[in-house]
Order: sequence, then C-alpha cells, then structure tokens
Amino acid sequence: MTEQDVYILGIESSCDETAAAVVKNGKEVLSNIISTQIPIHRKFGGVVPEIASRKHIERIMPVIDKALDDAKLTMAEITAVAVTYGPGLVGALLVGLSAGKALAFACDKPLIGVNHLEGHVFANFLSGEDLKPPFLALVVSGGHTSLLIVEDYNTFKLLGQTRDDAAGEAFDKIARFMGLPYPGGPEIEKLAASGNPKSIAFPKPLLPGTHDFSFSGLKSAVINYIHGLEQKGEPLNKADIAASFQETIVEVLVEKSQDALRATGLKQIVLAGGVSANKSLQKALAKGAEEVGASLIHPTAILCTDNAVMIATRGYYQYIHGERSAWNLNAIPALKLGE
Ligand code: KG4
Ligand code: ZN
Repeated sequence: MTEQDVYILGIESSCDETAAAVVKNGKEVLSNIISTQIPIHRKFGGVVPEIASRKHIERIMPVIDKALDDAKLTMAEITAVAVTYGPGLVGALLVGLSAGKALAFACDKPLIGVNHLEGHVFANFLSGEDLKPPFLALVVSGGHTSLLIVEDYNTFKLLGQTRDDAAGEAFDKIARFMGLPYPGGPEIEKLAASGNPKSIAFPKPLLPGTHDFSFSGLKSAVINYIHGLEQKGEPLNKADIAASFQETIVEVLVEKSQDALRATGLKQIVLAGGVSANKSLQKALAKGAEEVGASLIHPTAILCTDNAVMIATRGYYQYIHGERSAWNLNAIPALKLGE
C-alpha cells in the first residue's frame, strides 16, 4: 500500500441488488459483494419497491462489512466512498446513499455520488481490454436504452434514447406475458436457444434519421401474435417466439449502433447495463461493429448486471478528477446521463 494508491468503497442499492465493493486505483477488484433480491421479487413477477427498500435496510451493513473484510481493509484505509444516487427506485437508492454518507462522514472520508448508468459504462474499464475515450456506449438496462458518446472520462454526450420502453423492460414484459419468471431477459435468452429466430417476422422499429429507439410497438406485436394464436386455439411455439423477438431487438440495437458509429466515426463501442449479458447481442454487436471498422468491448459476466464494482470504478475517475459530493446529496430517481 503506497500513499498514492486510491481505494474506493463502492455502494449500490438502486433496484433489487444490495452491493458493495472495493476497487484499487480504478482497476483492481479487491472485493465484490452482491446480495440479490431476485428470488423475493420473483413471486410478484417484478420488483416491489417497498419490499426492495426494506431488504436493502436489512442487508446494506453486512454487505459493506463483507466487502471491507474480503478486501482486507478497514475504513481507515479507504480513500473515498462512492455511492449510487440515481437513477433508480427512490426508497432503494436512499438506503445505500444514507449508509454511504453516514460511513463517509463518521470516518472523515470524501463522499462521491455516482450515476448508476455511468457506472454501467465504466464496468468496461475492468474488462481487461484496452479502452480509452472517446468511444460510443450502448446502454441497455431495465429502465434505459441509450446511445452516448463518452468524450473523455467525465464528459458524456447523449446521442439518442428510447421514446418508450427500455430494451430490458421489453424482455421483462414479454417474458411475463409468456408466463416466464422475473427477470425476463435471461429466461427469454435460454428459451430462444432452442427456437428458430427466423420463424416469425416481427416489426423492426428503426426510427430512421434519429438515434432514438422505440420498443413498445414490437412488444404489442408479440403480445398480439400470441393472443391471435390463442384465440384460434393454435399451439404456441414459445421457443420460436422468444428467438424471433430476441433477434428483432438485437437487430435494432446492432443497426442503430452501426448508424451511430458511422455518424460519429468512433472506432470503439462498449455495451453497458443488464441486457449486455445477452450472448446473442454480444455476438451480433461484435460482428456489426467489425462491419463498420469498429470493435466491441463488453463487461465480464458478473459486471453486466447491477454491482458495486462499477460504482467504485466510476467513483475512482470522479475522485481523481477532484469531484466531491456535499453532505446534503439526495437520491435522484430520474437522474439523467451526464448530470
Ligand atoms: O442493469 P440491470 O441489472 O438493472 C437496471 O439497472 O435496470 O438490468 C436489468 C435488466 C432486466 O430487464 C433484465 O431482464 C435484463 O437486464 N437482462 C437481460 C439479460 N440479463 C439481464 N436481458 C437479456 N438477456 C440477458 N441475458
Ligand atoms: Zn443497472
């Protein structure tokens, strides 16, 4: 341990994962603790905000203690505390934020508020690949679908975003409609593996001339297709439906990313957010990027979905840039990228 080393304790509680992690110098993961509430929310078919807040309260301190223990560090040795303050569920965010603030204040450490979506993007700095701004980022999570330019470590420019449903939300809603458990993305991906992606032609929403997305029409088309078969008493081939739906979403994400790469001339694109765990998307986007002379980087599997390593990593870059948050930092449920 040298005086120049920067140890960031990251804390994340924006949705249904209570997480804490310690990252050294923005690149070495010393601990990564994730306590997931997925089995609890599965009974309800989605995240129940009040239950999420209560579970975060129960778990936040043990999760932070374990992250420090695994890193073999005490709070005295931590340089700064980085905590997600938005976007997300307000009650859930407040639990991690309050814990982070209290800990930082009591231990006389700087507090750094982190944007959850920027955290997802920064998970790519731990992928082991050589990544330097400027690059393009495709953020695809449960609540967001956006294309943004990462101009440097602290400047982000939004190119386009969804006008209605997020990609992950579309996966979750279709899965729920098909009777699959929450979260729907991984379930659709599993089912799609045994289906024919070319069997059903769903409409492909491209919104030409913009970098925006729209998935609600596709969602309705899938639901209408299923309703139609049910009304006629015809059998549903769920694997074919899952495969064709996934193929359509992936094609849209790839074509829009190619447009954005061409328009910006950027040579690197990163995937970020829970949907980045999808192997079909990773494969198709790698190929799509190559076709326009660019390359794809995506986070390692454990860092695709919500975690605190990404928050600590984002926090590291804010720390060395001199950013500090005030003690009255509040949760911002609808925090935008780059704010
Ligand atoms: O980033 P994340 O963990 O939480 C939010 O910040 O929203 O993303 C969760 C979303 C859910 O909609 C989930 O269904 C989706 O990511 N997801 C996937 C996969 N794994 C998670 N979607 C498609 N394929 C996957 N393998
Ligand atoms: Zn997320």
